[in-house]
Amino acid sequence: MSMQRGQWSSRLGFILAAAGSAVGLGNIWGFPIQTAKNGGAAFVLIYLALTFLICFPVVILEIAIGRRTQKNPVGALDELAPGTPWKSVGMLGVLSGVMILSFYIVIAGWVFGYFLEIATGGLQRLATDGEFSTFVGSAWKNLIYMGLFMIATVAIVVGGIKDGIERWARYLMPTLLIMLFALIVYVLTLDNAGKGIAFYLIPDFSKINIKVINAALSQAFFSLSLGMGALITYGSYVSKQDNIISSGFIVTLFDTFIAFSAGLLIIPAIFTLAPETTAETIPAGPGLLFVFIPKVFMNLVADIGYYPASFLGAFFFLLICFAALTSTISLLEVPTSYVVDQGKTLRKKAAMLVGAAVFFFGLGSMLANGASEFFTQFITYPKGGPPVDFLTFVADIFFETSLPLGGFLLSTFTLFIWKTKNLNEEISQGYPDYPGSLVEKLITTMLHVAPFVIFFIFINTVLAKFFGITLF
Ligand code: TRP
Repeated sequence: MSMQRGQWSSRLGFILAAAGSAVGLGNIWGFPIQTAKNGGAAFVLIYLALTFLICFPVVILEIAIGRRTQKNPVGALDELAPGTPWKSVGMLGVLSGVMILSFYIVIAGWVFGYFLEIATGGLQRLATDGEFSTFVGSAWKNLIYMGLFMIATVAIVVGGIKDGIERWARYLMPTLLIMLFALIVYVLTLDNAGKGIAFYLIPDFSKINIKVINAALSQAFFSLSLGMGALITYGSYVSKQDNIISSGFIVTLFDTFIAFSAGLLIIPAIFTLAPETTAETIPAGPGLLFVFIPKVFMNLVADIGYYPASFLGAFFFLLICFAALTSTISLLEVPTSYVVDQGKTLRKKAAMLVGAAVFFFGLGSMLANGASEFFTQFITYPKGGPPVDFLTFVADIFFETSLPLGGFLLSTFTLFIWKTKNLNEEISQGYPDYPGSLVEKLITTMLHVAPFVIFFIFINTVLAKFFGITLF
């Protein structure tokens, strides 16, 4: 069975693939902006606490469930609690994989398009006001960009665990690290970069409120690829000899480190162009990456010339492409492994089938930024306000809501149904000293707290986001 399903070639193989899954748009784009808007180092502290105290035990239990059952999330829960509704948590995960990927691939397509267009001389045009709206509004162009990104993702997943996912993570992750640090070093030499560092790192605790804590938890779940069984799936290919605590810890640490480092690139870059930026005026959302950043590179033209500035700009967007690619791979792998396991379908057929479904839903998100009125003004939430577009709607449901919900259900499941005894037994394989150790006590304690904290934050998020009700 395990021969057919495939396995990572080594512990490092798993760590690289899981780190690839974790490091993505969430780190390079999401985290720096959330930090800048929400109190700088004060936000970082909250994020760190949630990551290591609440999310880390969920990382471990996901990997353990996967390795225990050697199955996709649906099969895994069905095996541990046969004939119960718990496998619907796995279904929610598989569905979330399809839906998150459907909007992620659209944004990845934009990044890829910006890379191509800047590399072929388009920097000046892309740095012009209004150009981003034109860009996202051109359906045919985006169809091609997202289509190419989807094809690359499917091709890698078709390659299998060792020869597809792991092999690409082995190329892309070290490359990404080098590119990121090369850019950080360069940006820090520019005028006013220091102001950006100060802005990023000086804490402002007055910005912290329950909304910020909600945002930090959703961000941490998304960034760690948690709550939909991506780590159950990747864990199902882990060898019984591996120590999953240390592997999981390295992945968590690495993801957080990259998110933090991305802030050292993005925030100072903003300040080189706009040294008077404040938490209120800092560009956020798509505008940051696709409107502001091209202007930052255009601003360099006077000093270093058009081609070197274009080179740096293309380099920047290529870095994000790489980060996004190892993430789209993991998002596709979850539903693909489900189809392979349950349907006894060949991996190649399964990946292509799921890829086609993702592409179909992705069309809605692709048309949601002006190309189609229907998808651009898709729905109004019960709380009122202007209608949200389809991409935002899918992200609100499947990222902000479904991931913490999944994390809550998985930790509840482990605690009350599967039981910590079985979790510990699984962890001891590859870590014989685990039972009775201090690490075990810490993780067990955090695991008992996690579902309550996650549930509390989850309810708050849903009430605030959709109904405009703030409890605290
Ligand atoms: N973690 C990735 C990011 O930060 C996104 C991602 C990849 C993801 N796979 C996932 C999110 C699985 C949730 C679940 O961009």
